[in-house]
Amino acid sequence: MKDVDFLVVGSGIAGLSFALKAAKHGKVLIVTKSNEDESNTKYAQGGVAVVVDKSDSFEKHIADTLIAGDGLCDEKIVENVVKEGPDRIKEIIEYGTHFDKVKKGSYDLAREGGHSEHRILHYKDVTGFEIERALLEEVHRSPNITILTHYFAVDLITQHHLGLFVNKTSDNINCYGIYAFNTRTNVVEKILSKVTVMASGGAGHIYASTTNPVIATGDGIAMVYRAKGKVRNMEFIQFHPTSLYNPGEYPSFLISEALRGFGAVLRRRNGEEFMQEYDERGSLASRDIVARAIDNEMKKSGDDFVYLDITHRNKADLLNHFPNIYAKCLSVGIDLTRDYIPVTPAAHYLCGGILVDEYGLSSISQLYACGECSSTGLHGANRLASNSLLEALIYAHRIYEHAVASFNMVEIPKGIPDWDDTDTYLSNEDILVTHNLRETQKIMSDYVGIVRSDFRLERALRRLKLLYEETEEFYKNTKLSVKLCELRNVIQVSYIVIKSAMARKESRGLHYTTDYPNHSENIEDTIF
Ligand code: SIN
Repeated sequence: MKDVDFLVVGSGIAGLSFALKAAKHGKVLIVTKSNEDESNTKYAQGGVAVVVDKSDSFEKHIADTLIAGDGLCDEKIVENVVKEGPDRIKEIIEYGTHFDKVKKGSYDLAREGGHSEHRILHYKDVTGFEIERALLEEVHRSPNITILTHYFAVDLITQHHLGLFVNKTSDNINCYGIYAFNTRTNVVEKILSKVTVMASGGAGHIYASTTNPVIATGDGIAMVYRAKGKVRNMEFIQFHPTSLYNPGEYPSFLISEALRGFGAVLRRRNGEEFMQEYDERGSLASRDIVARAIDNEMKKSGDDFVYLDITHRNKADLLNHFPNIYAKCLSVGIDLTRDYIPVTPAAHYLCGGILVDEYGLSSISQLYACGECSSTGLHGANRLASNSLLEALIYAHRIYEHAVASFNMVEIPKGIPDWDDTDTYLSNEDILVTHNLRETQKIMSDYVGIVRSDFRLERALRRLKLLYEETEEFYKNTKLSVKLCELRNVIQVSYIVIKSAMARKESRGLHYTTDYPNHSENIEDTIF
């Protein structure tokens, strides 16, 4: 049993930046399911959207975020996040993060879809990797922070584990920590904490094709849902328009939108540009529009990809700005300075998540959520590119301020039981778990993708039900494994995505359904 002041689930930008602040006030334990640097953050290429240039303004960044969010953003939250951005960026620069500069004191600002200005701070095309490096180095310098790697968070501990009844309408659910599976010893450990911060990232792997690393299985969201916490707007799955089309590669390699900000344009197989036919912003329209246009082009042509063309830019500039993308493309036989790049949309970012208030507090007391697993109100129906790292920094700080003010008053009740796995057996059929995962991902890709309909969603739900029942049965009777827990989470998150999509009787942002192709007059969140 472990007992700490602050428990953080996840080691991306959200978890690490909260930990660094909280460590000034108490003991922090970070649990992470893989290596310490393995997170969606590490793979973020584009950068952090923030107003640092005189020609830009908070008003413009706010307006761009609201337009992308298609009427569903919380305007107050958008304003808070945009205005607090420069302060939080200063902090990570002080921790040692490098961003590219054009000349001393002046940042090389990139542009991405939906932005009216160049405002993306970046480090080459590996910004997330650089931020993760700097934060981890700072974490290693802090004596108050411990990181437990290869610990898989299984379930939140609440009053339910004391035998008390808890349901979705309970207004006083408390979180006392988590049960975590130590994958080195195969033992589930009880970790008690005064404050728990869920920073477990996204859920790209509910789909067969995603830019997310394999760890992104929606674990935190599924845990909160099971503990009867609230999740919001889960139908808004952002498909990145341009992942590298490279059959057999899983996950898909991201071709950053910054390449389009640098002048790349989307073309049909015959070389024609097509985005102007869909939106006057062309290839730099917001992601929902570009992904839908590519989907439409692929359906019309029967091709599995469209082309991205950056061949008109100078080779030295391309190599300087995009060394990672250049090297990756070259490794599969594409020289982007001379060849068109075949690209296809892939699941990239979850815009909904665990419902939190302006301080990052969830509907469960002592449980906060930060980063991609949370729903703060910033992204609305479609996240503006490069707003996510910014959101994580802002909310890590807000959670820190809120949590340190009261954590010393939290009492953990006595009598929380250890994990009980008596009467379970060790499975020798893990292949069934793999099959069910693939089936779930295929259902989601086939029926709950970029273009939806009532018929498709109902079909998805019917098929998912069988997988849910089989998996729950297996879970009850066998010893835990990470793969089984992940499958269970993927199925639960898929279920919430489908139910949320069914509940939204309109098309808005990333949710497009042929049955309700227009906005409805009532702008509402979906909450489950
Ligand atoms: C990209 O580099 O295109 C991804 C950035 C983001 O998802 O915000």
